[in-house]
Amino acid sequence: MGDGQWWAVSLTEAVGNNKPLSVVCEGEELVLFRNAAGRAFALEDRCPHRRVPLSPGVLTPGGLQCPYHGWTFDGASGVCREIPNLHADERVPSRHAARAFLVAEADGFIHVWRGSGAPTGVLPSAAYRPIGREYSGSAVVNIVHGTYLETMLDGPECLLAFPGVTITDFFLGDPRREGEHLVLDRGGVWKGKGIGPAFVRDHPLVLRTRVPLAGGAIFVELLTAAEVPLVTIFIASTANRRGTTSLNWRGFRHAHHAPGAPFAWRLRRTAGRAPFEVLPEVKGKSIAALRVAPSLELATSRMRQGAECRGEHNE
Ligand code: FES
Repeated sequence: MGDGQWWAVSLTEAVGNNKPLSVVCEGEELVLFRNAAGRAFALEDRCPHRRVPLSPGVLTPGGLQCPYHGWTFDGASGVCREIPNLHADERVPSRHAARAFLVAEADGFIHVWRGSGAPTGVLPSAAYRPIGREYSGSAVVNIVHGTYLETMLDGPECLLAFPGVTITDFFLGDPRREGEHLVLDRGGVWKGKGIGPAFVRDHPLVLRTRVPLAGGAIFVELLTAAEVPLVTIFIASTANRRGTTSLNWRGFRHAHHAPGAPFAWRLRRTAGRAPFEVLPEVKGKSIAALRVAPSLELATSRMRQGAECRGEHNE
């Protein structure tokens, strides 16, 4: 059995059948595109002829045509199907193939399988079930992927905003492992509610962050203290080049009433404006000032997970 995992690498609407899309997943450069029937494909963004990027190429009925010498590669297999100006008695050598990745499209995301074995497990977005209007976006943030995940535990207010809500550290749960994620609850308060001293403060809101041990799918929920969901966000994260992180997200507002919500929150709802913001830029100074606390558990959980995979048991 090999290893690997599915990665959500793009929003589904970002990939069309008229122009290839260049993405980076865990530092590996990929090109995404569709055929005329709408099926999505992923190839390594390197032409096997001279190792130049395929993403500036042209989509043809036969696949993706390299912009340099016009070789055309099949989307599903990566095999070169066509080389211009071959003589009638010449065949395309079968060794000329771009590396192809398995693709699964679901829940508004294009996923690719990266790994040495056959795909296993569910798609990362399988637990994301939007209701009503969605709000989506993409960004490349100037922070290393691992640090982005840690910051989502230690200081999500550096990465996310909920207009009308202040996220606090005064109520902070214990990190707990749930499957492949580390989950942490922290308190939140409505803005403009006269919140009083921190130690007697009520926290009518909970921000729950589910951070993947191996990177990838982050789930964020804003809940009432009674665990009624108000907002759900799915953020697909992966390492881009040069210490940056790619983000693709979708989220939605639940239909539930938000008791005590300020006018600004209710107004946004009426106006159909997004109830959250995934910040497209991060402030290094704010992140540097964060206390490293819940994220320490991330490394421990990864070690435990590794031991479980190796079949080791602690008595
Ligand atoms: S570099 Fe791509 S066909 Fe030559």
